[in-house]
Amino acid sequence: MADVVTMEKIVSLARRRGFVFPSSEIYGGLGSAYDYGHYGVLLKENVKARWLEAMVREREDIVALDSSIILHPRVWEVSGHVEGFHDPLVDCRTCKLRFRADQLDQAQCGRKPSKRPGETPDCDLTEPRLFNLMFKTRIGPVEETGLDAYLRPETAQGIFVNFKNVAQLARRKPPFGIAQIGKAFRNEVTTGHFIFRTLEFEQMEMEYFVPPAEARKWFEYWVEERLSWYTRLGIRESHLRVREHAPEELAHYSQATSDIEYLYPIGWSELEGVAHRGDYDLRAHSEASGTKLEWVDTESGERYTPHVVEPAAGVNRSMLAFMVDAYDEEVVAERPRTVLRLHPQIAPVKVAVLPLIPRNEDISARARALYEELRRAVAAEYDDSGQIGRRYRRQDEIGTPWALTIDEQTLEDDTVTIRDRDSLAQERIPIAGARQAVLDRLAQDWKTPKPD
Ligand code: GAP
Repeated sequence: MADVVTMEKIVSLARRRGFVFPSSEIYGGLGSAYDYGHYGVLLKENVKARWLEAMVREREDIVALDSSIILHPRVWEVSGHVEGFHDPLVDCRTCKLRFRADQLDQAQCGRKPSKRPGETPDCDLTEPRLFNLMFKTRIGPVEETGLDAYLRPETAQGIFVNFKNVAQLARRKPPFGIAQIGKAFRNEVTTGHFIFRTLEFEQMEMEYFVPPAEARKWFEYWVEERLSWYTRLGIRESHLRVREHAPEELAHYSQATSDIEYLYPIGWSELEGVAHRGDYDLRAHSEASGTKLEWVDTESGERYTPHVVEPAAGVNRSMLAFMVDAYDEEVVAERPRTVLRLHPQIAPVKVAVLPLIPRNEDISARARALYEELRRAVAAEYDDSGQIGRRYRRQDEIGTPWALTIDEQTLEDDTVTIRDRDSLAQERIPIAGARQAVLDRLAQDWKTPKPD
């Protein structure tokens, strides 16, 4: 069965349910920046928490770091970003639009949107010019004497320049990794496709430092490991693939890169990149700073510059992939329903508490007490407004895996109904065991009911 999801449906649901809004909307929006509402924040936080869990908490060989967004300007000269972090651009002198020279086949002419730039006799394109993607700013209150600086275009450099601090203090021996989640900024020329490509985004990056002879082995290991993180969190295998970069595509620092791609409604596109960066960064920063960023074995005296394998994921692109993969529509009892079949560990709200007859004070009191108990353990929501069917639909749309309904029978036998978002099965369970029932379900493996 064909997937019903489209980017328009995701944008509409995200807006309708308060996941994502266009930024500065009251001024007409920016088109390349978005704000995240309540459920968007919770979903994004869950993505980050699952990544940190898999990368740091469940492993002994990786430690966490939070480095600053603005680094010493020398970092970006030495890393090669000032010289090499460019997109080739062409301008159209007729419609005044700017396009990526290497993506003209995906762009639209400003005057005839049915054509590509350069396809009409009116198009007047310049030769390609290189455009640096880093956002420049100035440190210091006085424009003339301030220091040029950049907003980081990747979180990775903050890890490399801290290599010595962490290697010494964390007392780790290669292979070991440093993981970081944080904002990155790129002055992208072609933004678009909702939160897929924006000016400001969050990265989840891990630099894994290894003995040079083991780099290829660890590169392959991390491609597999990262792929399985997505499938463990419910993304369909049929919608994921690995694509190795051709030599001409490689970033200036990379010896080999494989993209983990997801089949978004816009087609197969990069979700995460796994790169073999060799010793490019540590060697460059050692030479430029005079601080030796190398591994020294104090017992054997062995010393070398570790090679680096880097899985670099985007929080926003992951969130989009989770939403797209989870989106489903079906007709239940002759009424359509839209449902986000999110992995329960990713879902913004785990359980909703719904008093069937809100005007009944005894029912409301029991429901409220249950909600207070649940929200201490998991993200829970209390909803007493509107018909019960509507309330279920609202929770389905934000992907809440379970709903607990309190009704007149609860007052008689201390049981509640637990409804499953995906199967729609309803089961009567003791109210005293409701919290544990939710926790038990949350701890179970989960597989999407959507066909692979
Ligand atoms: N340190 C390596 C690095 O930054 P990258 O492939 O350029 O590699 C890693 O970026 C990930 O960051 C991408 O796979 C993507 O998920 C995310 N990303 C990159 N540019 C983005 C943008 N403009 N908007 C949203 N996410 C972006």
